[in-house]
Amino acid sequence: MKPTAPRHAPWDVHRLPPAEGTSVLVTGGNAGIGYFVAEQLAGTGATVILGSRDPVKAETAAGSIRARVPGASVRHVRLDLADLSSLEHSVRALDLSRLDAVVHNAGVALDDPPRLTTKDGHELMFGTNHLGHLALTRWLAPLLVAAPAARVVTVGSFAAKTERLDLADLQSREDYRPKRTYGRSKLAQMYVGLELARRLGALGSSVASVVVHPGGALDSLTPARPPVHERTPAERLRGGPAALVLQGKHAGAWPAVRAVLDPRVGSGELWGPRVFGLRGRPHREAVWSHLSDTEVAAQLWDRSCELIDIDPDFWRAA
Ligand SMILES: NC(=O)c1ccc[n+]([C@@H]2O[C@H](COP(=O)([O-])OP(=O)(O)OC[C@H]3O[C@@H](n4cnc5c(N)ncnc54)[C@H](OP(=O)(O)O)[C@@H]3O)[C@@H](O)[C@H]2O)c1
Repeated sequence: MKPTAPRHAPWDVHRLPPAEGTSVLVTGGNAGIGYFVAEQLAGTGATVILGSRDPVKAETAAGSIRARVPGASVRHVRLDLADLSSLEHSVRALDLSRLDAVVHNAGVALDDPPRLTTKDGHELMFGTNHLGHLALTRWLAPLLVAAPAARVVTVGSFAAKTERLDLADLQSREDYRPKRTYGRSKLAQMYVGLELARRLGALGSSVASVVVHPGGALDSLTPARPPVHERTPAERLRGGPAALVLQGKHAGAWPAVRAVLDPRVGSGELWGPRVFGLRGRPHREAVWSHLSDTEVAAQLWDRSCELIDIDPDFWRAA
């Protein structure tokens, strides 16, 4: 994004710099953290496109944003990350000549077996969260290159901090444990976000890749946005004690929003909430030691590109 924020003022999540004239795609912008990323970015004057697999939910979310943000420029495109063959069409449907940022936010997290798969036969969480976003990046590359200083913002997870990838069983075929598979899918996303930053840097690209995570963001601590998100007084009460360590999804959105807008956020950086990485204002974290393993990242990049049948050097051609 064009640098619009004052370089020395502290970042204020409630007073964002203007971003008129820019366009941002938010995957999974119809609900949860993605909804709040979209709402907050719409308040800056950016045109926000909600990438959603459900047009009705997406229009409801867009309506909620328009009702809260006077003059908001918000629309949606159909986007199903679990159907790789649909992604090229989704990118064409954006009908843009350039894209200033994409927030890879959409995610699926399963708690229980059985192991499910995407339309393409990939394990559902790895296939949607990681492979779907990588494939989307490939189709978006020409639009991102066409912007003056575009950003790819990958939403990872604290859950990835304690996980390690199994490069021999990336898709949990041998040993499927849903929570671990989810954590690994987020870890894979984070590795690839950082690998992308290295590849873009090596090409001298104007595009930046930033990895963020939202901390722990609960619906019960999230302000209501009816009919997108309802919160009963009982839920509010139940959420109270959790607020000591966790936060709502509106606050979970802050690191991604800052990564889109703040010129002080650089390619290859990791941003998350300030308090124990779980809640609070966005701040830069040291890249976790296992995430700094460039050998693993490079292998994952190549294998992932192979799995989705794209050229690992797709940025060169963009
Ligand atoms: N909440 C947390 O504490 C937390 C912590 C760490 C990381 N994260 C990460 O933050 C991101 C957002 O989490 P959240 O809590 O806001 O989740 P959420 O409320 O469950 O929202 C997930 C979003 O992803 C969309 N989605 C799921 N599968 C999709 C697909 N195949 N194609 C397109 N969109 C799809 C959902 O669409 P539908 O409405 O159609 O289902 C929804 O919009 C995720 O990447 C998650 O891994 C969250």
